[in-house]
Amino acid sequence: METSAEKVWLTQHLDSRYGNHSGEIMLCNLAFGTRILANAESWDKLSPFQVPQPPSQDAWLVRARDAHLLVGDGAEEVPDTVVRLLAALKTYLKTDIGSPLQLLDQAEAHYRQHHMPGPYTGPAIAAGPLMHKPSRLVDFIFDHTRAFLSYDLKPVQGLDLDLVRMFCERPAMKLRYEQQFCTPHTTQLRARKIAASVPPGGRVLVLGDDDLVSLALVHYGGDFKVDVLELDTDLVAFLKAKGGDRLTVLEHNLRHGVPESMRKAYDVVTTDPPYAANGMRFFLQCAADSLVEKPDSLLFLSTYPGLIESPEKLWTDLDELGLKIEQRWEHFSRYIYNNTYRVEHLAALRQLGSPLHPTSELLGFPYLYAHFFECSKS
Ligand SMILES: C[S@@+](CC[C@H](N)C(=O)[O-])C[C@H]1O[C@@H](n2cnc3c(N)ncnc32)[C@H](O)[C@@H]1O
Repeated sequence: METSAEKVWLTQHLDSRYGNHSGEIMLCNLAFGTRILANAESWDKLSPFQVPQPPSQDAWLVRARDAHLLVGDGAEEVPDTVVRLLAALKTYLKTDIGSPLQLLDQAEAHYRQHHMPGPYTGPAIAAGPLMHKPSRLVDFIFDHTRAFLSYDLKPVQGLDLDLVRMFCERPAMKLRYEQQFCTPHTTQLRARKIAASVPPGGRVLVLGDDDLVSLALVHYGGDFKVDVLELDTDLVAFLKAKGGDRLTVLEHNLRHGVPESMRKAYDVVTTDPPYAANGMRFFLQCAADSLVEKPDSLLFLSTYPGLIESPEKLWTDLDELGLKIEQRWEHFSRYIYNNTYRVEHLAALRQLGSPLHPTSELLGFPYLYAHFFECSKS
């Protein structure tokens, strides 16, 4: 008798939400846009799949597999957004030949030659912030589509389900604090990288923590302490409740700088600053002020220069603050690309003359990406 050696494991795209009813949880695959209902018991059912296992016949786990919460190395399906994208690129290029990345490269060259949006010439009052530099939007859509096709269609092992479960209870996202949290897997990867750089007995500071990096850091254990400065009172309460005694959380507005006692006190600082130029600057100033002045002090910074208000200013800010980029990991962080942004971006490109197809399919990627920079303090 033939036995299947197939193994499946938890998707790296897993995220959780509370459902509408008490005790109800939604588990989703963010890349596929699929979700199923779960309950407290479901966590135990999923837990063994943090490492590869033969697929289970349990009815709920079979549904979890159908919803792509469990994935394997076999011939896996791709998200329907990718199917639609490839069909649109083939029609646009009038060809059937080429790998997805080759089609994208050809489509980008064709788009830039024939369909590049022109400068905005309408009334100033109707020009949103996206209309002034349409070339940045074009760079953004091709870069993000390329990143998604290159990195996010292959299943990655090792998601920490404890983090997904803990993060389920996080407070609602507040746009007024420019919150936009990353996926649990991104938080996990950031925390691993940061923890590997802290000296024994060291101190880590997190400046603004809707990404919950501090919780992942203390969850993994290690001989260091973690402090957080955060403005959102609900988030502060959540971090305090979950963090245990290695985590100190202070409600604080970073516009006032770092408190005196926290200056030059940290071996490692991490932050994911606001994308507005002014916010970026004061977050970076706080980072520079709180690092101990020694060659191996490090700032781990998550940002995407292509989307921030002033990319040029980021480089001069870092320079002025004595922060030198030592390493960068491109497209390291993933955040949900929500439909509000998607519709805004499509409307801006359409108004500037981009064709509906393949522009709308090129905006089908599920994530906004950010690079991760390791900076030393000179
Ligand atoms: C600025 S947001 C992340 C922004 C995200 N990278 C973006 O622009 O899409 C990061 C964290 O900083 C917090 N935050 C925002 N303004 C703050 C301030 N003035 N002081 C302290 N924390 C702040 C937010 O509540 C959030 O938890």
